[in-house]
Amino acid sequence: MKRDLRLGVNIDHVATIRNARGGRHPDPVRAAKLAADSGAAGITAHLREARRHISDEDLDRLMAAIHLPLNLEMAATPEMVAIALRHKPHAACIVPERREERTTEGGLDVAGQRDSLRPVVASLLEAGIRVSLFIEPSPHQIEAAHAIGAPVIELHTGAYCDALGAARERELARVVAAAAQAEQLGLECHAGHGLSYETVIPVAAIPTISELNIGHFLIGEAIFIGLEDSIRQMRGLMIQART
Ligand code: PXP
Repeated sequence: MKRDLRLGVNIDHVATIRNARGGRHPDPVRAAKLAADSGAAGITAHLREARRHISDEDLDRLMAAIHLPLNLEMAATPEMVAIALRHKPHAACIVPERREERTTEGGLDVAGQRDSLRPVVASLLEAGIRVSLFIEPSPHQIEAAHAIGAPVIELHTGAYCDALGAARERELARVVAAAAQAEQLGLECHAGHGLSYETVIPVAAIPTISELNIGHFLIGEAIFIGLEDSIRQMRGLMIQART
């Protein structure tokens, strides 16, 4: 089934730049407001355990100031679960932060951690938070995500974006197959990591993917053309690819 395609703008790297000097500029909440005005359907922010970019205060301010759905990327730790339950963002995307939580490629190892992830997914869902798991486009990870009750998966597109030539085509085929498997299992399917104006097009063309979360490229491109234009161009390419 063909679905609407939303753009979630990840604002972490605005905070990365701010934190390079300390202080308050540039403000990720201001970036989130601009993203909302430029056609973003949601805001994504990753509260890391080490608070490398987004801070707890940023999260408080985002929740208060932004009327778009907030997708909180988080590790499956008791601290992060407590924060999510306190804030109740629209969505939580569980991502790997520690080396042992990763598959060889970079997504969350759901298949290897079913027992510890199942209660995390259940407690977030019970609080009314939409839960997604950030996984590699591999059949056993998708099957495991479904088995532990996650309603949404986000496919890691990093390997596809990093590859070149025939290898990129092979990685794209994995993403296409993964989206088809998710659809068959009744999972909502998102994708993200490393997407650019070039790499977004074939992914946006996959009709069952309903959300792309994009950050680094948009913030980098904003240095040259401004954040509003970088988001508008990305959205334009997504719409074009989908139609
Ligand atoms: N989706 C998830 C789950 C992520 O962890 C990230 C990176 O923070 C992204 C999307 C966005 O990736 P990028 O910043 O490379 O666009």
